[in-house]
Amino acid sequence: MYKLKLLAALAFGAVGLVDGQASQSYTWKNVKIGGGGGFVPGIIFNPSQKGLAYARTDIGGAYKLNSDDTWTPLLDFADNARWNYWGVDALATDPVQPNRLYLATGMYTNSWDPNNGQILISSDSGSTFTPSSLPFKIGGNMPGRGIVLFFGARSGNGLWKSTDYGKTWAKVTGFTDTGSFIPDSSDTSGYNSDKIGIAWVTFDKASGSSGSATPRIFVGVANKGSTSVYVSTNGGSSWSAVAGQPTDFLPHKGVLSPAERSLYISYSDGAGPYDGTGGAIYKYNIDTGAWTNITPVSGGDLYFGFGGVAVDLQKNGTVMVAALNSWWPDGQIFRSIDGGASWTALWAWNGYPNLIKSYSYDDSLAPWIGPNYVDITAGDLQIGWMMESIAIDPFDSNHWLYGTGETIYGSHDLLKWDTAGNVTIKSLADGIEETSVQALISPPSGPPLISAIGDVAGFVHESLTTAPKSHHTNPDWATSADIDFAGNNPSNLVRIGTGDNSTKQVAISSDYGVTWNQHYGAPDNVNGGKVAISANADTILWRTSGHGVMVSQYQATFSAVSSLPSDAAITSDKKNNAVFYGASTSTFYLSTDIGKTFSAKGTLGSSTSVFDIAVHPNNTGDVWVSTDKGLFHSTNNGTSFTTISGISQAWGIALGAPKTVGGYPAIFVAANYSGVAYLRSDDQGVNWVKINDAAHGFGSASSNCITADARTYGRVYIGTNGRGIFYGDASGSAPSPTATATSTTTSTTTSATTSTHTTTTSAPTSTSSTTFSSSSSSSGTQTPASGYGQCGGQGWTGPTTCVSGYTCVVQNDFYSQCVPS
Ligand SMILES: *[C@@H]1O[C@H](CO)[C@@H](O)[C@H](O)[C@H]1NC(C)=O
Ligand SMILES: *[C@@H]1O[C@H](CO)[C@@H](O)[C@H](O)[C@H]1NC(C)=O
Ligand SMILES: *[C@@H]1O[C@H](CO)[C@@H](O)[C@H](O)[C@H]1NC(C)=O
Ligand SMILES: *[C@@H]1O[C@H](CO)[C@@H](O)[C@H](O)[C@H]1NC(C)=O
Ligand SMILES: *[C@@H]1O[C@H](CO)[C@@H](O)[C@H](O)[C@H]1NC(C)=O
Ligand SMILES: *[C@@H]1O[C@H](CO)[C@@H](O)[C@H](O)[C@H]1NC(C)=O
Repeated sequence: MYKLKLLAALAFGAVGLVDGQASQSYTWKNVKIGGGGGFVPGIIFNPSQKGLAYARTDIGGAYKLNSDDTWTPLLDFADNARWNYWGVDALATDPVQPNRLYLATGMYTNSWDPNNGQILISSDSGSTFTPSSLPFKIGGNMPGRGIVLFFGARSGNGLWKSTDYGKTWAKVTGFTDTGSFIPDSSDTSGYNSDKIGIAWVTFDKASGSSGSATPRIFVGVANKGSTSVYVSTNGGSSWSAVAGQPTDFLPHKGVLSPAERSLYISYSDGAGPYDGTGGAIYKYNIDTGAWTNITPVSGGDLYFGFGGVAVDLQKNGTVMVAALNSWWPDGQIFRSIDGGASWTALWAWNGYPNLIKSYSYDDSLAPWIGPNYVDITAGDLQIGWMMESIAIDPFDSNHWLYGTGETIYGSHDLLKWDTAGNVTIKSLADGIEETSVQALISPPSGPPLISAIGDVAGFVHESLTTAPKSHHTNPDWATSADIDFAGNNPSNLVRIGTGDNSTKQVAISSDYGVTWNQHYGAPDNVNGGKVAISANADTILWRTSGHGVMVSQYQATFSAVSSLPSDAAITSDKKNNAVFYGASTSTFYLSTDIGKTFSAKGTLGSSTSVFDIAVHPNNTGDVWVSTDKGLFHSTNNGTSFTTISGISQAWGIALGAPKTVGGYPAIFVAANYSGVAYLRSDDQGVNWVKINDAAHGFGSASSNCITADARTYGRVYIGTNGRGIFYGDASGSAPSPTATATSTTTSTTTSATTSTHTTTTSAPTSTSSTTFSSSSSSSGTQTPASGYGQCGGQGWTGPTTCVSGYTCVVQNDFYSQCVPS
């Protein structure tokens, strides 16, 4: 069974184009955003080989650390068939044979990912991998994704063991506690209603001898209110609950300090990575069996749970712990050099609203990441949040790294914490590109690229190789859903957000996105979807998420456009201000009255779902439409379409600079062309060359967006769901065209019905910290929160009202606070 699955996986990976299909070599690089951009739940140093370290992400694969502090991605080969490889739920680096690396991969355990998980096995430190299929799912982007370690499974699947370097796996039958904790059993999507399962596995290397299995193993299980830490002293044959353990909270991390003969355990009352309002740090002495509560704070100062734990293997008694989520005024990290008897923190109050900061902040490698100051009224966090991983280099006590919801911070001066009482916090995620890209534009003038991105808003990319100084601001939304430019006035942009629905989610810019203004005609409580701006920039067409299609001219109040289906793909003509296009299921729509009304035009074969529409930059009426049934081209405003032969399914589509001056634009498409590939055509879709290669799969094709450079022939940008933005330039010579035109004109329908259309539910385009279901939090009978106390936020179950004189104000998705009225 295992062998069959393995073969199937390999066969998928080998699927290419049909024999004889041409390809051209391309050079692929990340557009540099720098600083990561998403959650880093795990950072692990190999204890035996100096300088060997890895980081894992929840939706963007795994990375290896280089000696110059940069990171190299390891899973860029993951293609459409293997998109779930980018959800890395656990990582193990072999302490005995350091070249061996194991990754447990899979994206979701609910229906969002239909595939089982797999262990990816490398024996060359991550250069190449062999997959070993698992008979259950793995959820790298699920709740609790910071606490699962190698071979402790989710979903009640228990503890698994391999004795052949990960090739085959068997359930550890003597271990019966599979973990009962469920974040929210009422979540019908299955995302929050799955069991978190085994949280961590920690080996006591000192208990064994070289060459034989480690006898003493500790396992932490996601239970709250019952026993959660187990030990085996015979290599896993039999297990018992560790006596005297605390049972109030979930154990998040268990880290062994061999010199102290102790296990440090962080606890939180939530699975994370967003929640947790209480917790503890305990130390368990292996020899005496004593448990000591060494929690660094207590009382009203303990309003968070704990995540990351690190020990300095060279300094007996040096331990660091991170608050998993202290949403206000900032995250927090504690350090002890006496085994937890006393602690120092990165900041302390110096009389509200002032903080004493025992660190200097450095975001020079990713200046956008800021903030460079902590504005406690705005709820900005400098130290970070979602801090499930913290690590001290086992060969260098000055070198530390920790992962947050947004980046990796660390420095090479950690010992200054103890001497000068001041340490550097520097963004050290250079090379990690972990964003979920929602949309990209490459206008014909101005900056080459402007992005709309999940969680980190998006950027004006003045340079493709330098990290931007700022993300889109004012309005500030965590996620920008879409962006467009006006064809005749390309400095004029529109951007839409998915943020807090109490603010208007449409923004406009007249300087290529350097500055933005809110569109005051946008309704409240409407967000997301797709947006298009007319060629002269006076009109905005918005296909909202769940509120139909609407249009606004001259910043007037948006009005409904009932003649276009609410799931339509939309785009604007780039030359004729009056023309907008739409498409839904198999019907193409045209508006010639600036988006007020649309009429049905031609038919898109037997399509049931439209992905995208691309327009010729200069020729009104010349449009390309990608659907679940292929790629369609019209040169007469969609009155009739030509079906591009050989393409059975198409996703992102873009038109870019032509090969020859005055020629037809180069066309780029992600398509199923006897296998999923990224293709370019220089002759209107007659001949295609494949431009991606075995090392660049770009993950899920249906989650990606594509745009082509309007000025540089051959250059294409691919926005991924988890691995940032790639740009590709041709580096090899193009094959000569061979095909003869076999396209067929399919339709001249002009009276297609508009009455039936289905709403498509696409796979979730998850981002690292926005995709989750909220749990209900309000309770009418609770006593109000005190002044400056928490009164709301993701997972908050406390009071949602404030004492008299204070008002509850949303600071961010996770934290609302009582501020003076
Ligand atoms: C580490 O410190 C503890 C006391 O904190 C001591 O008992 C132990 O012997 C020390 N171990 C080593 C290897 O120095
Ligand atoms: C630590 O260094 C930073 C940067 O020089 C400084 O702003 C901060 O005040 C220092 N903190 C302490 C407690 O000395
Ligand atoms: C946003 O809208 C949703 C659904 O309409 C609602 O449940 C939620 O409370 C709104 N949030 C805010 C901050 O207004
Ligand atoms: C497409 O429609 C526009 C607006 O009505 C019109 O100006 C143009 O001539 C049409 N093009 C074709 C090829 O029909
Ligand atoms: C569109 O027209 C402009 C101006 O004439 C020209 O520079 C550009 O190359 C044209 N683009 C294409 C794709 O034909
Ligand atoms: C690609 O198209 C072929 C032929 O239509 C189909 O068998 C295959 O399942 C498709 N692949 C994907 C990933 O959709």
